[in-house]
Amino acid sequence: MIEFAGRTVLVTGGGAGIGRGIAVAFARAGARVVVAEIDRTRAEAVRASLGPDALVSVTDVRDATQVKALLDEVARKCGRLDVLVNNVGDFLGIVKPFEQHTDEDLEALYDVNLRQMFLVTRAAIPLLKKTGPGGSIINISTIEAFRGIPMNVVYSAFKAGVSGFTRSLALDLGPAGIRVNEIAPETTESEQVKPAEWIPARYREHIPRWIPLGRFGQPADAAGCALFLASDLAGWVTGTTLHLDGGALAAAGWYRTPDGGWTNTPVVTDRGIGGV
Ligand SMILES: NC(=O)c1ccc[n+]([C@@H]2O[C@H](COP(=O)([O-])OP(=O)(O)OC[C@H]3O[C@@H](n4cnc5c(N)ncnc54)[C@H](O)[C@@H]3O)[C@@H](O)[C@H]2O)c1
Repeated sequence: MIEFAGRTVLVTGGGAGIGRGIAVAFARAGARVVVAEIDRTRAEAVRASLGPDALVSVTDVRDATQVKALLDEVARKCGRLDVLVNNVGDFLGIVKPFEQHTDEDLEALYDVNLRQMFLVTRAAIPLLKKTGPGGSIINISTIEAFRGIPMNVVYSAFKAGVSGFTRSLALDLGPAGIRVNEIAPETTESEQVKPAEWIPARYREHIPRWIPLGRFGQPADAAGCALFLASDLAGWVTGTTLHLDGGALAAAGWYRTPDGGWTNTPVVTDRGIGGV
């Protein structure tokens, strides 16, 4: 239903996980897809799924020189840019109390979660504007920008920064007819996050109770949101967040009980809904 023939879409980190799911979905919808991927093996692997006119570049989006070279190449080879999906982001396996974060941790988390988004977006805006009204920027944030997460304070703070960036940039680019939105996913199966492996088998029966819609996310879920936000169906949607979370943020600590009821306590009580 959603058609992107004739449009060029740049996806950062499109070699794996959510980014790969988004890149492949845009290619299937007819777009010419550009992928910026730091990992050469992943870049090669995704190329075959994107069609012959795809541009897959081994690029580190944290490096301003590489980013500029990529955008120059997109201008030269594609002549236009309609959609930018800022997908790169990573908690870098840093899970510890805030006070134990080193200066290097702070820099690394800033570089990969927010600073690169500034670099890529700043470099892409001239070509987006030159392409004309109708453009779209989609930033990938996280549910952790909208609720607290222990031991990931810095990651979640930079992701909350992505929300501020999204809202304010939407105002800057509104007059040019370029929309800016974000997607905030809950746990989604990817290279970085592997609930199917991480959750021990003996607990998996609980998954349908943790998330109101009964499962974790898949890259295809994010792809559906990205296609919608980039399409004309979302032509009056800007500066906002699409909460891609199976209802987890709405539930905010409410879980199904084994008998089909609900509880907001860490143990199931016998007093019905919310009973303590
Ligand atoms: N998977 C989840 O549960 C989840 C939940 C919420 C938010 N997110 C966000 O979604 C986005 C994608 O996450 P994912 O789980 O699919 O990650 P992933 O690690 O599985 O995939 C990310 C891709 O980006 C590439 N990449 C990393 N650094 C790069 C760089 N500097 N330059 C170019 N490419 C780079 C990686 O090689 C990889 O191919 C991130 O912003 C992440 O914070 C993920």
